[in-house]
Amino acid sequence: MTERSLREKAKAYLELCYRELSKEDLFEERWCKVQNSIEEQGTYELLDFELDYGTKVAWRNSNKCIGRLFWRSMEVLDQRSLGSMDTLFAALFEHIDFAYNGGNIRSTISVFNAHKGIRIVNPQLLGFAAYEQEDGSVVGDPKHLMLTKECVKLGWEPKMGAFDLLPIVIQKEGETPVWKEIPKDLITLVSIEHPNIKAISDLNLKWYATPIISNMTLEVGGIEFMAAPFNGWYMGTEIGARNLADEDRYNLLPIVAEKMGLDIRDKNALWKDRALVELNQAVLYSFRKAGVKIIDHHSASKQFMQFMRQEAKEGRDVTADWSWIVPPTSGSTTKVFHTEMQDIINSPNYFYQEDPWD
Ligand code: ARG
Repeated sequence: MTERSLREKAKAYLELCYRELSKEDLFEERWCKVQNSIEEQGTYELLDFELDYGTKVAWRNSNKCIGRLFWRSMEVLDQRSLGSMDTLFAALFEHIDFAYNGGNIRSTISVFNAHKGIRIVNPQLLGFAAYEQEDGSVVGDPKHLMLTKECVKLGWEPKMGAFDLLPIVIQKEGETPVWKEIPKDLITLVSIEHPNIKAISDLNLKWYATPIISNMTLEVGGIEFMAAPFNGWYMGTEIGARNLADEDRYNLLPIVAEKMGLDIRDKNALWKDRALVELNQAVLYSFRKAGVKIIDHHSASKQFMQFMRQEAKEGRDVTADWSWIVPPTSGSTTKVFHTEMQDIINSPNYFYQEDPWD
Protein backbone atom coordinates (compact mmCIF):
# COMPACT_ATOMS: atom_id res chain seq x y z
CA MET A 1 0.00 0.00 0.00
CA THR A 2 1.32 3.46 -0.84
CA GLU A 3 1.81 5.97 1.95
CA ARG A 4 -0.85 8.17 0.40
CA SER A 5 -3.44 5.42 0.31
CA LEU A 6 -2.56 4.39 3.87
CA ARG A 7 -3.05 7.97 5.00
CA GLU A 8 -6.43 8.19 3.25
CA LYS A 9 -7.65 4.92 4.69
CA ALA A 10 -6.43 5.79 8.16
CA LYS A 11 -8.19 9.13 8.06
CA ALA A 12 -11.47 7.70 6.76
CA TYR A 13 -11.52 5.00 9.42
CA LEU A 14 -10.50 7.22 12.33
CA GLU A 15 -13.19 9.72 11.37
CA LEU A 16 -15.80 6.98 11.32
CA CYS A 17 -14.56 5.44 14.54
CA TYR A 18 -14.39 8.68 16.54
CA ARG A 19 -17.73 9.85 15.19
CA GLU A 20 -19.61 6.62 15.93
CA LEU A 21 -18.05 6.34 19.38
CA SER A 22 -18.72 10.02 20.16
CA LYS A 23 -15.06 10.83 20.61
CA GLU A 24 -14.93 13.68 18.08
CA ASP A 25 -13.12 15.92 20.55
CA LEU A 26 -10.14 13.53 20.54
CA PHE A 27 -9.90 13.17 16.78
CA GLU A 28 -7.61 16.07 15.79
CA GLU A 29 -4.87 15.21 18.25
CA ARG A 30 -4.97 11.55 17.31
CA TRP A 31 -4.93 12.25 13.58
CA CYS A 32 -1.83 14.44 14.02
CA LYS A 33 -0.02 11.61 15.77
CA VAL A 34 -1.02 9.06 13.15
CA GLN A 35 0.14 11.31 10.33
CA ASN A 36 3.51 11.79 12.04
CA SER A 37 3.89 8.08 12.53
CA ILE A 38 3.08 7.33 8.89
CA GLU A 39 5.58 9.95 7.80
CA GLU A 40 8.36 8.74 10.10
CA GLN A 41 7.83 4.98 10.09
CA GLY A 42 5.67 4.33 7.07
CA THR A 43 2.90 2.92 9.26
CA TYR A 44 1.07 3.35 12.57
CA GLU A 45 -0.46 1.25 15.32
CA LEU A 46 -4.18 1.22 16.04
CA LEU A 47 -5.09 1.98 19.65
CA ASP A 48 -6.86 -0.87 21.43
CA PHE A 49 -10.33 0.63 21.12
CA GLU A 50 -9.74 1.55 17.47
CA LEU A 51 -8.82 -2.03 16.64
CA ASP A 52 -11.69 -3.38 18.72
CA TYR A 53 -14.28 -1.23 16.97
CA GLY A 54 -12.65 -1.88 13.58
CA THR A 55 -13.15 -5.64 13.85
CA LYS A 56 -16.83 -5.02 14.56
CA VAL A 57 -17.39 -2.55 11.72
CA ALA A 58 -15.53 -4.95 9.40
CA TRP A 59 -18.15 -7.54 10.34
CA ARG A 60 -20.96 -5.01 9.83
CA ASN A 61 -19.56 -4.44 6.33
CA SER A 62 -19.30 -8.15 5.42
CA ASN A 63 -21.71 -8.33 2.52
CA LYS A 64 -21.82 -12.11 2.39
CA CYS A 65 -22.75 -12.59 6.07
CA ILE A 66 -26.37 -13.13 7.10
CA GLY A 67 -25.50 -13.05 10.83
CA ARG A 68 -24.59 -9.39 11.13
CA LEU A 69 -27.33 -8.39 13.57
CA PHE A 70 -24.82 -9.23 16.30
CA TRP A 71 -21.92 -7.20 14.91
CA ARG A 72 -21.43 -5.26 18.12
CA SER A 73 -20.91 -8.42 20.14
CA MET A 74 -17.59 -9.51 18.64
CA GLU A 75 -15.16 -10.60 21.37
CA VAL A 76 -11.68 -9.35 20.51
CA LEU A 77 -8.56 -11.16 21.63
CA ASP A 78 -5.74 -8.71 20.94
CA GLN A 79 -2.66 -10.87 20.31
CA ARG A 80 -0.57 -8.26 18.51
CA SER A 81 2.29 -8.54 20.98
CA LEU A 82 2.95 -12.21 20.19
CA GLY A 83 5.73 -13.36 17.88
CA SER A 84 7.13 -16.78 18.73
CA MET A 85 5.59 -19.87 17.15
CA ASP A 86 4.77 -21.42 20.52
CA THR A 87 2.80 -18.39 21.68
CA LEU A 88 0.99 -18.17 18.32
CA PHE A 89 -0.18 -21.77 18.53
CA ALA A 90 -1.18 -21.31 22.17
CA ALA A 91 -3.25 -18.27 21.19
CA LEU A 92 -5.02 -20.19 18.42
CA PHE A 93 -5.84 -23.02 20.81
CA GLU A 94 -7.13 -20.45 23.29
CA HIS A 95 -9.34 -19.02 20.54
CA ILE A 96 -10.86 -22.44 19.81
CA ASP A 97 -11.64 -22.94 23.49
CA PHE A 98 -12.87 -19.42 24.24
CA ALA A 99 -15.10 -19.31 21.15
CA TYR A 100 -16.63 -22.75 21.80
CA ASN A 101 -17.46 -21.80 25.38
CA GLY A 102 -18.97 -25.17 26.26
CA GLY A 103 -21.31 -24.98 23.28
CA ASN A 104 -22.61 -21.45 23.88
CA ILE A 105 -20.46 -20.19 21.00
CA ARG A 106 -19.10 -16.64 21.20
CA SER A 107 -18.29 -14.63 18.07
CA THR A 108 -14.59 -14.05 18.54
CA ILE A 109 -11.61 -12.68 16.64
CA SER A 110 -7.92 -13.05 17.49
CA VAL A 111 -5.81 -10.32 15.97
CA PHE A 112 -2.11 -11.01 15.42
CA ASN A 113 0.67 -8.61 14.58
CA ALA A 114 0.24 -7.09 11.13
CA HIS A 115 3.93 -6.38 10.58
CA LYS A 116 5.56 -9.75 11.27
CA GLY A 117 4.54 -11.65 8.15
CA ILE A 118 2.48 -14.16 10.11
CA ARG A 119 -0.19 -16.12 8.29
CA ILE A 120 -2.30 -19.15 8.94
CA VAL A 121 -2.21 -21.65 6.10
CA ASN A 122 -5.54 -23.37 6.93
CA PRO A 123 -8.70 -21.73 5.55
CA GLN A 124 -10.34 -22.47 8.93
CA LEU A 125 -8.72 -23.47 12.22
CA LEU A 126 -10.92 -26.58 12.20
CA GLY A 127 -11.25 -28.61 9.02
CA PHE A 128 -11.25 -32.21 7.83
CA ALA A 129 -8.50 -33.85 5.80
CA ALA A 130 -8.99 -35.31 2.31
CA TYR A 131 -7.27 -38.37 0.91
CA GLU A 132 -7.25 -39.39 -2.73
CA GLN A 133 -7.84 -43.12 -3.23
CA GLU A 134 -6.31 -45.23 -5.98
CA ASP A 135 -9.56 -45.23 -7.95
CA GLY A 136 -9.57 -41.41 -7.94
CA SER A 137 -12.31 -41.07 -5.31
CA VAL A 138 -11.74 -38.96 -2.22
CA VAL A 139 -12.17 -39.85 1.45
CA GLY A 140 -12.77 -36.80 3.64
CA ASP A 141 -13.47 -33.19 2.66
CA PRO A 142 -12.29 -32.59 -0.94
CA LYS A 143 -12.01 -28.89 -0.11
CA HIS A 144 -8.81 -29.74 1.75
CA LEU A 145 -7.01 -31.94 -0.78
CA MET A 146 -4.21 -29.43 -1.31
CA LEU A 147 -3.92 -28.49 2.35
CA THR A 148 -3.78 -32.16 3.34
CA LYS A 149 -0.98 -32.75 0.82
CA GLU A 150 0.92 -29.78 2.23
CA CYS A 151 0.51 -31.13 5.77
CA VAL A 152 1.76 -34.57 4.73
CA LYS A 153 4.74 -32.95 2.98
CA LEU A 154 5.56 -31.21 6.25
CA GLY A 155 5.53 -34.53 8.09
CA TRP A 156 1.94 -34.87 9.32
CA GLU A 157 0.78 -38.48 9.45
CA PRO A 158 -2.38 -39.11 7.33
CA LYS A 159 -5.07 -41.02 9.21
CA MET A 160 -7.33 -42.03 6.31
CA GLY A 161 -10.68 -41.28 8.03
CA ALA A 162 -13.57 -39.26 6.62
CA PHE A 163 -13.53 -36.76 9.51
CA ASP A 164 -9.89 -36.33 10.58
CA LEU A 165 -9.13 -32.85 11.85
CA LEU A 166 -6.10 -31.37 10.15
CA PRO A 167 -3.32 -29.81 12.20
CA ILE A 168 -2.97 -26.03 12.25
CA VAL A 169 -0.21 -24.73 10.00
CA ILE A 170 1.41 -21.33 10.58
CA GLN A 171 3.79 -19.68 8.18
CA LYS A 172 6.11 -16.79 8.84
CA GLU A 173 7.29 -14.96 5.76
CA GLY A 174 10.42 -16.55 4.32
CA GLU A 175 10.32 -19.49 6.73
CA THR A 176 9.13 -23.10 6.41
CA PRO A 177 5.58 -23.52 7.71
CA VAL A 178 5.19 -25.16 11.13
CA TRP A 179 2.27 -27.44 12.09
CA LYS A 180 0.76 -28.55 15.36
CA GLU A 181 -2.05 -30.97 16.13
CA ILE A 182 -4.99 -29.38 17.98
CA PRO A 183 -5.18 -30.76 21.55
CA LYS A 184 -7.95 -33.38 21.66
CA ASP A 185 -9.67 -31.90 24.70
CA LEU A 186 -10.38 -28.66 22.81
CA ILE A 187 -12.28 -30.34 20.02
CA THR A 188 -16.00 -30.98 19.86
CA LEU A 189 -17.35 -32.94 16.93
CA VAL A 190 -21.12 -33.22 16.72
CA SER A 191 -22.42 -36.64 15.59
CA ILE A 192 -25.16 -36.13 13.05
CA GLU A 193 -28.31 -38.11 13.75
CA HIS A 194 -31.84 -37.78 12.44
CA PRO A 195 -34.73 -37.70 14.95
CA ASN A 196 -36.57 -40.49 13.11
CA ILE A 197 -34.70 -41.71 10.03
CA LYS A 198 -32.26 -44.19 11.49
CA ALA A 199 -30.56 -44.82 8.13
CA ILE A 200 -29.25 -41.23 8.19
CA SER A 201 -27.89 -41.62 11.71
CA ASP A 202 -26.22 -44.86 10.60
CA LEU A 203 -24.03 -42.93 8.15
CA ASN A 204 -21.98 -41.77 11.17
CA LEU A 205 -21.57 -38.26 9.85
CA LYS A 206 -19.92 -35.61 11.98
CA TRP A 207 -19.20 -31.94 11.87
CA TYR A 208 -17.16 -29.62 14.08
CA ALA A 209 -18.91 -27.13 16.32
CA THR A 210 -17.25 -23.84 15.40
CA PRO A 211 -16.45 -22.36 11.97
CA ILE A 212 -13.28 -20.26 12.50
CA ILE A 213 -12.26 -18.52 9.28
CA SER A 214 -8.49 -18.06 9.21
CA ASN A 215 -7.62 -17.12 5.62
CA MET A 216 -9.10 -13.66 5.38
CA THR A 217 -7.31 -10.36 5.89
CA LEU A 218 -8.84 -7.90 8.33
CA GLU A 219 -8.31 -4.38 7.02
CA VAL A 220 -8.85 -1.51 9.45
CA GLY A 221 -7.71 2.02 8.69
CA GLY A 222 -5.33 0.75 6.01
CA ILE A 223 -3.61 -1.70 8.36
CA GLU A 224 -3.85 -5.25 6.98
CA PHE A 225 -3.98 -8.09 9.47
CA MET A 226 -3.23 -11.25 7.51
CA ALA A 227 -3.58 -13.40 10.62
CA ALA A 228 -6.91 -12.55 12.23
CA PRO A 229 -9.02 -15.69 12.60
CA PHE A 230 -12.67 -15.06 13.49
CA ASN A 231 -15.75 -17.15 14.09
CA GLY A 232 -19.48 -17.10 14.49
CA TRP A 233 -21.77 -20.06 15.01
CA TYR A 234 -23.11 -22.22 12.22
CA MET A 235 -26.27 -21.75 10.24
CA GLY A 236 -27.51 -25.30 9.63
CA THR A 237 -27.58 -25.08 5.83
CA GLU A 238 -23.83 -24.37 5.68
CA ILE A 239 -23.31 -27.94 6.81
CA GLY A 240 -26.47 -29.72 5.61
CA ALA A 241 -26.92 -28.05 2.23
CA ARG A 242 -23.30 -27.33 1.29
CA ASN A 243 -20.50 -29.07 3.18
CA LEU A 244 -22.20 -32.47 3.30
CA ALA A 245 -24.21 -32.05 0.10
CA ASP A 246 -22.19 -30.23 -2.59
CA GLU A 247 -20.92 -32.55 -5.30
CA ASP A 248 -17.39 -31.28 -4.79
CA ARG A 249 -17.61 -31.67 -1.01
CA TYR A 250 -19.01 -34.75 0.79
CA ASN A 251 -21.58 -35.33 -1.99
CA LEU A 252 -23.95 -37.25 0.28
CA LEU A 253 -27.33 -36.60 -1.34
CA PRO A 254 -27.40 -39.77 -3.49
CA ILE A 255 -26.40 -41.86 -0.48
CA VAL A 256 -28.95 -40.22 1.83
CA ALA A 257 -31.68 -40.56 -0.84
CA GLU A 258 -30.97 -44.24 -1.33
CA LYS A 259 -31.01 -44.79 2.42
CA MET A 260 -34.41 -43.09 2.44
CA GLY A 261 -35.58 -45.54 -0.20
CA LEU A 262 -36.00 -42.90 -2.93
CA ASP A 263 -35.59 -43.63 -6.61
CA ILE A 264 -32.59 -41.55 -7.70
CA ARG A 265 -33.29 -42.19 -11.38
CA ASP A 266 -36.69 -40.49 -11.27
CA LYS A 267 -36.15 -36.76 -11.87
CA ASN A 268 -39.76 -36.00 -10.93
CA ALA A 269 -39.37 -37.55 -7.50
CA LEU A 270 -37.25 -34.61 -6.30
CA TRP A 271 -35.02 -37.02 -4.44
CA LYS A 272 -32.25 -34.44 -3.99
CA ASP A 273 -34.72 -32.00 -2.46
CA ARG A 274 -36.14 -34.59 -0.08
CA ALA A 275 -32.72 -35.78 0.95
CA LEU A 276 -31.62 -32.17 1.53
CA VAL A 277 -34.48 -31.42 3.89
CA GLU A 278 -33.84 -34.51 6.00
CA LEU A 279 -30.09 -33.93 6.11
CA ASN A 280 -30.64 -30.34 7.20
CA GLN A 281 -33.12 -31.36 9.85
CA ALA A 282 -30.58 -33.88 11.11
CA VAL A 283 -27.89 -31.18 11.39
CA LEU A 284 -30.11 -28.80 13.39
CA TYR A 285 -31.44 -31.62 15.57
CA SER A 286 -27.95 -32.95 16.35
CA PHE A 287 -26.38 -29.60 17.22
CA ARG A 288 -29.31 -28.74 19.50
CA LYS A 289 -29.15 -32.16 21.12
CA ALA A 290 -25.39 -31.75 21.69
CA GLY A 291 -25.98 -28.31 23.25
CA VAL A 292 -24.01 -26.52 20.53
CA LYS A 293 -25.36 -23.18 19.34
CA ILE A 294 -26.65 -23.22 15.76
CA ILE A 295 -29.27 -21.25 13.84
CA ASP A 296 -31.76 -22.35 11.19
CA HIS A 297 -31.99 -20.34 7.98
CA HIS A 298 -35.52 -19.04 8.65
CA SER A 299 -34.51 -17.44 11.94
CA ALA A 300 -31.26 -16.16 10.42
CA SER A 301 -33.22 -14.49 7.63
CA LYS A 302 -35.49 -12.80 10.20
CA GLN A 303 -32.46 -11.58 12.10
CA PHE A 304 -30.95 -10.17 8.93
CA MET A 305 -34.14 -8.21 8.21
CA GLN A 306 -33.93 -6.87 11.76
CA PHE A 307 -30.29 -5.90 11.10
CA MET A 308 -31.41 -3.96 8.02
CA ARG A 309 -34.04 -2.08 10.03
CA GLN A 310 -31.59 -1.39 12.83
CA GLU A 311 -29.01 0.00 10.42
CA ALA A 312 -31.62 2.16 8.69
CA LYS A 313 -32.52 3.61 12.08
CA GLU A 314 -28.89 4.57 12.59
CA GLY A 315 -28.85 6.23 9.18
CA ARG A 316 -26.64 3.69 7.45
CA ASP A 317 -27.21 1.79 4.22
CA VAL A 318 -26.77 -1.94 4.47
CA THR A 319 -24.60 -3.40 1.74
CA ALA A 320 -25.07 -7.07 0.96
CA ASP A 321 -24.44 -9.79 -1.61
CA TRP A 322 -27.86 -11.27 -2.37
CA SER A 323 -26.46 -14.50 -3.77
CA TRP A 324 -24.76 -15.19 -0.43
CA ILE A 325 -27.42 -13.86 1.93
CA VAL A 326 -30.23 -16.00 0.49
CA PRO A 327 -29.90 -19.46 2.04
CA PRO A 328 -29.05 -22.37 -0.27
CA THR A 329 -32.35 -24.13 0.43
CA SER A 330 -35.91 -22.83 0.50
CA GLY A 331 -34.75 -19.40 -0.64
CA SER A 332 -38.15 -18.02 -1.59
CA THR A 333 -39.63 -18.91 1.81
CA THR A 334 -37.33 -16.36 3.47
CA LYS A 335 -37.77 -12.56 3.51
CA VAL A 336 -34.24 -11.92 2.32
CA PHE A 337 -35.08 -13.55 -1.04
CA HIS A 338 -37.58 -10.79 -1.71
CA THR A 339 -35.27 -7.98 -0.65
CA GLU A 340 -33.09 -5.86 -2.93
CA MET A 341 -29.46 -5.52 -1.88
CA GLN A 342 -26.48 -3.42 -2.91
CA ASP A 343 -23.15 -5.16 -3.08
CA ILE A 344 -20.83 -2.23 -2.37
CA ILE A 345 -17.57 -2.93 -0.55
CA ASN A 346 -16.84 -0.64 2.40
CA SER A 347 -13.88 -0.48 4.76
CA PRO A 348 -13.07 -1.81 7.37
CA ASN A 349 -13.71 -5.28 6.00
CA TYR A 350 -12.50 -8.85 5.71
CA PHE A 351 -10.89 -9.73 2.38
CA TYR A 352 -10.00 -13.05 0.75
CA GLN A 353 -6.36 -14.08 0.57
CA GLU A 354 -4.81 -16.21 -2.12
CA ASP A 355 -4.14 -19.79 -1.12
CA PRO A 356 -0.51 -19.96 0.02
CA TRP A 357 0.29 -22.76 -2.43
CA ASP A 358 -0.93 -20.73 -5.47
N1 ARG B 1 -19.52 -21.81 5.33
C1 ARG B 1 -18.36 -22.09 6.13
C2 ARG B 1 -18.41 -23.53 6.61
O1 ARG B 1 -19.35 -24.22 6.32
C3 ARG B 1 -18.25 -21.18 7.33
C4 ARG B 1 -18.38 -19.69 7.07
C5 ARG B 1 -18.68 -18.87 8.30
N2 ARG B 1 -19.92 -19.26 8.89
C6 ARG B 1 -20.45 -18.75 10.00
N3 ARG B 1 -21.59 -19.23 10.41
N4 ARG B 1 -19.85 -17.78 10.69
O2 ARG B 1 -17.54 -24.02 7.28
